[in-house]
Amino acid sequence: MEFSDVEGELSSTLFTQDEIHAKVAELARRIEADYAGKELLLVGVLRGAVMIMADLARELTMHVEMDWMAVSSYGSGTQSSGVVRILKDLDSDLHDRHVLIVEDIIDSGLTLSWLRANLESRGAASVEICTLLRKPEAARVEVNVRYVGFDIPPAFVVGYGLDFAERYRNLRGIGVLAPHVYE
Ligand code: PRP
Repeated sequence: MEFSDVEGELSSTLFTQDEIHAKVAELARRIEADYAGKELLLVGVLRGAVMIMADLARELTMHVEMDWMAVSSYGSGTQSSGVVRILKDLDSDLHDRHVLIVEDIIDSGLTLSWLRANLESRGAASVEICTLLRKPEAARVEVNVRYVGFDIPPAFVVGYGLDFAERYRNLRGIGVLAPHVYE
């Protein structure tokens, strides 16, 4: 879907497909340099990370493995609570593996903080995080994130994997949802 397909539903556009792809390429160059000579396992967090995972993995010029987790945060509505339940676990054994968690967005930081500790406890050689978006003003817990695409204001953003009520994930770019859509 293009921005023109959701005209009137966004209050602003944040990043076009081209801007996202340029940023993903930048992140890929850094990841290649940092993991040169190492075996890397990319762990995507369903469902939002599907787009960044697909683009990042294809942009990388090194072999990687890909695995997926689905987690759900207990809590009311759209707010993370920090109590995380695993809905789908990894198929891979993490012992001695270099793991890079791939996310679409870090909001409060509660999900990623829990997830990193969980993956570290499985004996990984290293666990780092790559996120396309981060909302620094929404942070409730400090998470050390090695690769950040864009820092954004605390607005309701959709597109490129990010949803509102499961819609907008297939929008090519990223925009701010207009209040009349969710109010
Ligand atoms: C989003 C995102 C992270 C989490 C970040 O997932 O993909 O996993 O929220 O929020 P936090 O920093 O406040 O913990 P979401 O729960 O919306 O699920 P989805 O990826 O299936 O859309």
